[in-house]
Amino acid sequence: MYRIIDGKKVAAEIKQEIAAEVAKLRSEGKKIPHLAAILVGNNGSSETYVANKVKDCHEVGFKSSLIRYGVDVSETVLLDKIAELNNDSDVDGFIVQLPLPGHISENKVIEAIDPKKDADGFHPVNIGKMVIGLPGYIPATPYGIVELIKRYKIETSGKKCVVIGRSNIVGRPVSILLSQKGMDATVTVVHSRTKNIGELVSQADIIIAAIGSPAFITADMVKEGAVVFDVGTTRIVSPENKSGFKLVGDVDFENVAPGCSYITPVPGGVGPMTRVALLLNTLNAASRD
Ligand code: GUN
Repeated sequence: MYRIIDGKKVAAEIKQEIAAEVAKLRSEGKKIPHLAAILVGNNGSSETYVANKVKDCHEVGFKSSLIRYGVDVSETVLLDKIAELNNDSDVDGFIVQLPLPGHISENKVIEAIDPKKDADGFHPVNIGKMVIGLPGYIPATPYGIVELIKRYKIETSGKKCVVIGRSNIVGRPVSILLSQKGMDATVTVVHSRTKNIGELVSQADIIIAAIGSPAFITADMVKEGAVVFDVGTTRIVSPENKSGFKLVGDVDFENVAPGCSYITPVPGGVGPMTRVALLLNTLNAASRD
């Protein structure tokens, strides 16, 4: 019988821990953590993600600021705002929601963020620190997955892990974290140019699917007893849902779950952990000297 990895429940527990920490800071008259978010344009998914991040801050007692620009904002205006946030001592950490419109260089924007305030852990300095195992900010989704692995006591040492997808935000960093000392997994990253993806995935003890392709991972690709993390969050139109949309993962859950030992659902698996990881990074940013 498989077990559900309940990211929603774990995230709620961590949020309570963070809220308790904020209450303590408040009672001691210390600074309340402050996360700022920059949102450019009105991409539907980005709107939802940022609204959720603001709501999460509110729930744990953080201060939050939302800075919005139209889709045609210039790169210069955005870089000036980043410089301002870098120098604003009230802001502990901030994020620039991705993707950005095509006329703005995402790399330039990420590199403009002060690594000490890089709550997303996307700056090359923080990525570099992660690669060599130094403390720094870890991108939220990989951080959330590692927390789930720890809290569910999933054995990773010597296990074969296959990561599907090589994005800078999820696939690449999670593959690095799992192969590090302490996690000790043997990691294979597969991507759009990989031959025989199904064959490689079917050898995995741990599968991390992060490609954004609904039901890409089918039951025939999953070894009996494997642990499956589904990072996919494709929004599809769903008239039955209040919002008119529903989120679907990269895994054919219904057919894959019965053969697994553990699996994350979508929604309620990795997603809530991604959100809470940003709060953990912000708390960490606020506790720097
Ligand atoms: N777009 C999709 N995921 C993320 C994220 O974690 N952070 C930011 N800034 N943009 C994203």
